[in-house]
Parts: sequence; C-alpha cells; structure tokens
Amino acid sequence: MELCVALDLPTMQDNLELIEKIKHYPVWLKVGLRSYIRDGKPFINAIKAINPDFKIFLDLKLYDIPNTMADAAESIMGLGVDMFNVHASAGRKAMTEVMKRLQPYDNRPLVLAVTALTSFDETEFTHVYEKSIANKADQFAQDAHAAGLDGVVCSAYESASIKSLTSNAFITLTPGIRPFGEEAGDQERVATIEVAHNAKVDFIVVGRPIYASQDPALVVQKIIASL
Ligand code: C5P
Repeated sequence: MELCVALDLPTMQDNLELIEKIKHYPVWLKVGLRSYIRDGKPFINAIKAINPDFKIFLDLKLYDIPNTMADAAESIMGLGVDMFNVHASAGRKAMTEVMKRLQPYDNRPLVLAVTALTSFDETEFTHVYEKSIANKADQFAQDAHAAGLDGVVCSAYESASIKSLTSNAFITLTPGIRPFGEEAGDQERVATIEVAHNAKVDFIVVGRPIYASQDPALVVQKIIASL
C-alpha cells in the first residue's frame, strides 16, 4: 500500500512548505483542482525541483464529451505527472477514447476512474444516481476495467468487492482515510489504515490528518510505518 498526500493548502507557498517537510519520504503527492487551477504547471515543476522522485497524482476528475476528455488526457501527457483521473460516470465511450488516445505513448500515466465521491452519503448518492453506492461503484469499476483503465478511486469499503469483480491488479485508490481514527470533516465514508489494508487498497489518500497536524513529517512517518 502506498501513501498519497493531498496538497490542499490555501497557497502554493503553503503546499511547497509542506512538501519540504516530507521530502525524504517515499510518498505520492496529490495535486487537486484548487492547486492546479491556481498554480498550474509551475507548481508541478516546483514539486519536481524539490525532489524529482516524487510521484504526482493529478486529481482533476475529468468529465466531458469523449473527444474533449481525450484531448485533455493528451495535454496531461505534457505535464509529466504519474497518474490522473476521470469520472466513470462520463461513460464507457469517453473512458475508452481516453485510453485509445494515450495508447501510442509508452510512458503514459496511470489512469483511474472516480466511482462514488467519498463525501456522498447513501441518501444524496441515490438522489443523483438512483442506485446504492455499492451497486453503482461496482458497475462503474467494471466499466472502467472494460475500458482499459488502470484502476478506480473508491472508498475503502468498496475496494474488496471491486477487485473481486475486476482483477487483483486493478488499482484501488481510497480517499477519506483517517489513519488512526481522526476527525472526519466533510467525509462521510471514512476508514482507517487497518480497514484499507484488509480491503487490499493500493493507495490511500490523506489530506487534513497530515497537513492540519502540528508535525506533518511525524504523521507521514507514522503512517508509512503502519502501511
Ligand atoms: O483532507 P482529506 O484527507 O479528507 O482529503 C481527501 C482528498 O481526496 C481531498 O483532496 C479530496 O478532494 C480528495 N477526494 C475525495 N474523494 C474522492 C476523490 C478525491 O475526498 N472520491
């Protein structure tokens, strides 16, 4: 299991200070919408300048018509990131088109599909998708697998089922992790490292429990020790 640290701080400087503190740990870094819209490619370059070995997950959750998504995926190739994601609800055609467009590149990033956002509770999710989270997450994962994606973003509670329906090698990446049972914030379906481990999760994403702590490096060290 690998740790992916969410860089969700208010300014690029804050994020870079956080990265400096954890630069000696073998972690992935997650650049989300807020950071990317505000700081763009210079931020990606600044991360690599701190430590070129950092792996970067660009969490933009693409959702558009197939051709636009494939165009965006191809532009992402130029950023030098190691993983990005799309919404599975954009549909099988869109996901297939993205993978087709990336096929000629031998160094393409990993591509994951978002199933159900971990901030959804059952009531809200059913209101939007008219199915339970578990059912729909399984279906989205099967769609993503069939379209040739590398894995999905899901909650730790869906990981085991998704792997049994697709393949053990199909990556699951789970946000909403509260490593040692910390405050959930706006996340509805939170899980500890132990739950994630039992569910064979490949990547855990941790934001606030790291960047909102007094000593982010210590939290990262503790998490890595317990993976
Ligand atoms: O602070 P916290 O650990 O809750 O951060 C989780 C991170 O994972 C945030 O950056 C959030 O945008 C992201 N995320 C999520 N649920 C998803 C996909 C991404 O919480 N399904």
